[in-house]
Amino acid sequence: MISVRDVWKTYRIGEVESIALRGVDLEVPGGTFQCIVGPSGSGKSTLLHLIGGLDRPDRGEIVVMGAHINEMGDDELAGFRNRNIGFVFQMFYLVPRMSALENVELPLIVRGVPRRERRMMAREALAKVGLLDKADRKPTQLSGGEQQRVAIARAIVSDPRILLADEPTGNLDSENAQIVMSIFRDLVGIGITVVLVTHNVELLKYCDRTAHMRDGKIVRVD
Ligand SMILES: Nc1ncnc2c1ncn2[C@@H]1O[C@H](COP(=O)(O)OP(=O)(O)O)[C@@H](O)[C@H]1O
Ligand SMILES: [Mg+2]
Repeated sequence: MISVRDVWKTYRIGEVESIALRGVDLEVPGGTFQCIVGPSGSGKSTLLHLIGGLDRPDRGEIVVMGAHINEMGDDELAGFRNRNIGFVFQMFYLVPRMSALENVELPLIVRGVPRRERRMMAREALAKVGLLDKADRKPTQLSGGEQQRVAIARAIVSDPRILLADEPTGNLDSENAQIVMSIFRDLVGIGITVVLVTHNVELLKYCDRTAHMRDGKIVRVD
């Protein structure tokens, strides 16, 4: 489903170079919950961004669902990303004035999906994260864990095959972190491939496979 081969990435700020990835290899089979764990600065977010086509490697190959994403032009890559990949971040990035339902509908508005179909799809996505009963609440009327679940619903509303999550429990207490992890588990159960980055080793029990990163390399997979 996802294949990363000898990927390198260096960031430059003025004269200063920082090598974020030093030859990363990773294979993620379809329908698995793949976690990536490692200390801060080890290159986890960089790797996730490259897999999601948000940035490009300096060297190496990334194949997602059979597509060589680094050989695509910018527009083709953006289209591929919108159709196939959902993103969840540590921050929820919900629109405060909009209800949970309206927030989940947003990506569908951008895609020009008609209103009735949009409503139906957004309600379906909210049901998958167990929040249908709070569809009309504004973000401030929801707990942090519930806000992240709305963000997950927004990420899956267009039916992506792959969900990429960067420290999605970083702002949550341990109880809500567990709830969010079991939602990812459920999504894997309905066929979505989840790649999740965390530095919290307590959450690894939810994952099928774990890649351990250090200094821009994967040092162990289990
Ligand atoms: N946009 C950027 N510009 C410059 N350096 C960056 C940028 N993003 C990440 N880095 C550097 O790359 C390395 C890996 O960062 P990152 O992938 O964010 O690690 P992690 O997510 O594991 O904390 C770090 O040394 C970081 O400072
Ligand atoms: Mg990071």
